[in-house]
Amino acid sequence: MEPCKKCAECNNLCEIVPQMAGTFKALGDLTRLQIIYILSTDTSGTLGVSELAARLKISQPAVSQHLKTLKAEGLVGSRRDGFYVYYTVNRERMMEFRNRFELMYASVMQQCSREMVRKATPGRPVRACVVFYSYSGVTRRVAEGIRNASGCDLVEVRTRAPYSSFTAYTTGVVRSRKGACDPIEPGEIDVSGYDLLIIGTPVWAWKPAPAINAAVQALRGCEGKMAVVFTTCINQPGEALPLLRKSLEERDVTVMAEISLNQDDAKNPDAGGELLRQIIAANPLRGMADGETGEGNSENADV
Ligand SMILES: Cc1cc2nc3c(=O)[nH]c(=O)nc-3n(C[C@H](O)[C@H](O)[C@H](O)COP(=O)(O)O)c2cc1C
Repeated sequence: MEPCKKCAECNNLCEIVPQMAGTFKALGDLTRLQIIYILSTDTSGTLGVSELAARLKISQPAVSQHLKTLKAEGLVGSRRDGFYVYYTVNRERMMEFRNRFELMYASVMQQCSREMVRKATPGRPVRACVVFYSYSGVTRRVAEGIRNASGCDLVEVRTRAPYSSFTAYTTGVVRSRKGACDPIEPGEIDVSGYDLLIIGTPVWAWKPAPAINAAVQALRGCEGKMAVVFTTCINQPGEALPLLRKSLEERDVTVMAEISLNQDDAKNPDAGGELLRQIIAANPLRGMADGETGEGNSENADV
């Protein structure tokens, strides 16, 4: 779908919501849901009006009327075979419905997360920043989810010489196993204005990616700050989180929580919001008395 030109932040929801209303209306009827259920569990592919009417114990004209509504929304398709018309669920339309519902869900969750953040930090805007590296986009999506859910700042570090899919698994893996630091942009990351640092990296060979090792060294003004670290991986985080903690502690940063997301966690469209919930549950600023969170620039909030 083309990005919406009317409003920058709506995620196309301003177009999707009215379309969803028609689909919800078509599905918001017990008999029509039963028809969808019967069609979706049918293996013969030969269900017609008379068979549906017999199973539902309602008249054939009533079934025809319900099928007309479902067909108008594209949820059900039909094929003619001689005198008979057979009905099936429209797979593509169902997938589109699910994708749209997930988009709405993610948007609603973002708002819920912002409310959760407001409740967790009443009258005390916390200035937070996510510093992350992402090679193939998974960690970036999670970091953006945290930003969307909380309004915090993002700093993405990039390697000066990009990895290819070959060099990531050859040079990159060797460097991560050595705990090396890749040359990165930006070369310095000033975090002096933040109360909380959230540091994210993909796992490479059970360790933090070399770019995030460099990012930790590039932090300026981090001494005495609180941090939460997270990794994304397939399902083997190895020692990535403890190593990241150690390198931050060597920079005099206190790590209050370590969170590992596997492939399934990261697939959740609200992965960033979910991570934020875990961060809030860990209460990373618990040592900090109210009013000690810096000068308090509420525009640059907030976790
Ligand atoms: C070079 C390389 C090494 C990897 N090593 C591991 C690993 O040791 N354990 C694991 O579970 N996943 C590993 N992965 C998978 C990534 O950690 C995972 O896909 C991650 O979510 C990717 O994040 P990104 O898209 O932000 O780069 C590796 C991926 C690459 C490219």
